[in-house]
Amino acid sequence: MVGRALCPTAPNKGCAVTRILLQWRSTFVAEISLLPTVQLMPYTFPKSQEFFARAKHSIAGGVNSGIRLLEQPVPLYFERGEGARVWDVDGNEYIDFQLGQGALLYGHAPAGLADAIAAQAKLGLHWAAQCELELDVAERLQKMVPSAELVRFSNSATEAVMAAFRLARTQTGRKLILKFEGHYHGWSDEGLVGFANPPSTWNDPESPGHAHPSKGIIEEVKDQFVVARWNDIEHLRRRVEQFKGQIAAIVCEPAMCNTCCIEPEEGMLATIRELCDQEGMLMIADETITGFRFGAAGAQGYYNVRPDLTVLGKAIGGGTPFAALTGTREAMAKIISGESMHAGTLNANPLCLAASRWCLDEVLAQGPELPAKLNQLGQKLMVGLRKLADDHGVPLRPQGPGLAFHSLMLKPGKEERPVRNYRDYAELQDVARWTHLRRCLLEEGVRAIERGLWSISLAHTEQDIADALKLAEVAFKRHAESWTDA
Ligand SMILES: Cc1ncc(COP(=O)(O)O)c(C=O)c1O
Repeated sequence: MVGRALCPTAPNKGCAVTRILLQWRSTFVAEISLLPTVQLMPYTFPKSQEFFARAKHSIAGGVNSGIRLLEQPVPLYFERGEGARVWDVDGNEYIDFQLGQGALLYGHAPAGLADAIAAQAKLGLHWAAQCELELDVAERLQKMVPSAELVRFSNSATEAVMAAFRLARTQTGRKLILKFEGHYHGWSDEGLVGFANPPSTWNDPESPGHAHPSKGIIEEVKDQFVVARWNDIEHLRRRVEQFKGQIAAIVCEPAMCNTCCIEPEEGMLATIRELCDQEGMLMIADETITGFRFGAAGAQGYYNVRPDLTVLGKAIGGGTPFAALTGTREAMAKIISGESMHAGTLNANPLCLAASRWCLDEVLAQGPELPAKLNQLGQKLMVGLRKLADDHGVPLRPQGPGLAFHSLMLKPGKEERPVRNYRDYAELQDVARWTHLRRCLLEEGVRAIERGLWSISLAHTEQDIADALKLAEVAFKRHAESWTDA
């Protein structure tokens, strides 16, 4: 298999547009441009290359979400998917762990989901009014997520996060939101403050900086946030004390899936809950990734914590543009009164609702074993990848619970150590080397998320994991043979 074809074009070395559009990944993108040329290339992508060249004439930057430019050697164009597999326009087949950035918990195009959407499409696409389906979905959420006493639907998790911040400020009359370095809360002005600050803006560890990765942000937006380090309970207590009486809410991904898949250490979530109760702040759990992947009650069930507000995205719609803000009656009071505005032409769109009802029923049908089942498959893959890494002398350290995990790739000379927060990760992660390995994996038919996250779906089987590891073996060999540290 190795050397089946020669690369027809020089690999994308990170053009100027890529660098500008992905400024928010500025810590890492510069390193990607250091990638050496990959000579051997089992899969080739001529049609995707052709489409991407064409796209640049009609689509700004050629893609519709900046992060898609990270895909090397070219942003791929897909034709169809089925279960755990997906096929691109060049006929290349992949075992997919990218899964629509984690939204496809049920795999690609499950028949029941497609039928549910098609049946609703024949009845009506959109009413901007009420329908029974929205009750069906809301009532299922109440049953599944204990803190979801009331819900409001949106089209994206970014919007649901915006609504949560506004609601918390209305409820408390305070302006500050406390967030953690490395936690991603959507691409809005507010969601991105302090997300993945380059080291030059870190400040001292006691008062992390709140830089914004995008230009065009009103300076004052940043001042509405206090940034803290993840997994440092005493530091968090000091940050809350420092801004006593001014913080409306603490927001977090209960497991920091967006950065190295770092789980909360013992007591971390309980301390957030305790501080929120003590100081009259709202606890916002952003479960956009963890929701339903960690079981019917999400990460809040998995880690046994009860937030005031929860953001649900991705798996709630199984690949349709659907999200929800849920909360306790008390926390949702200002939406009920209308003091905190929440709106949207396409909110509670019937196609998305039909999809969501099917998805939630699927999660319910899985029962309490759902996270363990995904974890078991994921851990098998993690162990297999680690073995391949050791066999080929690649410093890859898969990290995370299994149902989702991250490809930590150690920089040359860095010792392995616990990765507790974003700073640890940024200091250790060899982005250029991971990007090179990821490309080799892709060229052999294994697709992980561009930034290093792997997601397992309910459609993956033991056979898929075994097949993926077989393909990965070739990829590791090619990577080890063609990689040289800068
Ligand atoms: C934790 C978290 N919050 C919010 C978002 C934003 O979701 P969306 O892209 O649907 O707006 C994401 C997206 O990846 C996410 O991972």
